[in-house]
Amino acid sequence: MRLTVNGRDHDVDAAPDTALLHVLRNDLALNGPKYGCGLGECGACTVLIGGVAARSCVIPIEGCTGRDILTLEGLGTRERPDAVQQAFIDEQAAQCGYCLNGMIMGTKALLATNPHPTEAEILQALRYNLCRCGAHVEIVRAAMRAAGHVLEARDCWPRPSRSTDRFRSFALQAPAATAHSRPSSASPPTVR
Ligand code: FES
Repeated sequence: MRLTVNGRDHDVDAAPDTALLHVLRNDLALNGPKYGCGLGECGACTVLIGGVAARSCVIPIEGCTGRDILTLEGLGTRERPDAVQQAFIDEQAAQCGYCLNGMIMGTKALLATNPHPTEAEILQALRYNLCRCGAHVEIVRAAMRAAGHVLEARDCWPRPSRSTDRFRSFALQAPAATAHSRPSSASPPTVR
């Protein structure tokens, strides 16, 4: 089965009903999309298919042939981050970083159709992307920054000094997380 991911064609040896997320991670070593709930509810696995945000954990690859798939890795590079990635780096918009793929890809999808969304529109677009660390304030600020809003200085509550490098890793290709084998439906991939 042939998939077009980040502008490159890949011939994939997998059953047609295999979830796209498993092929991206296990066959193509694209670990930006994360396995969270596996049920289409948390957003950690978000990719863009034909420019539209999609939950790759519940989309079989047979529905993806002939369509352009974009993952986090297809945005910017470490040297030249995409504008949305840079906004998330600038706002240090993560705690553990696991949700960041979905937040960035969701923001990309929003900006593709609405380049200057209001805060309410950003909240609406990201409402089903879950962050269990509670980094929502920074995440929304990052999306606002990416949308071109001029932000006021952050409140001066004590923040530990955080390494920008750490956030670059999250935003460009989230922390190393490798699943070594395609899971059966009873055993989701191991994520470290
Ligand atoms: Fe796909 Fe949660 S892992 S929506």
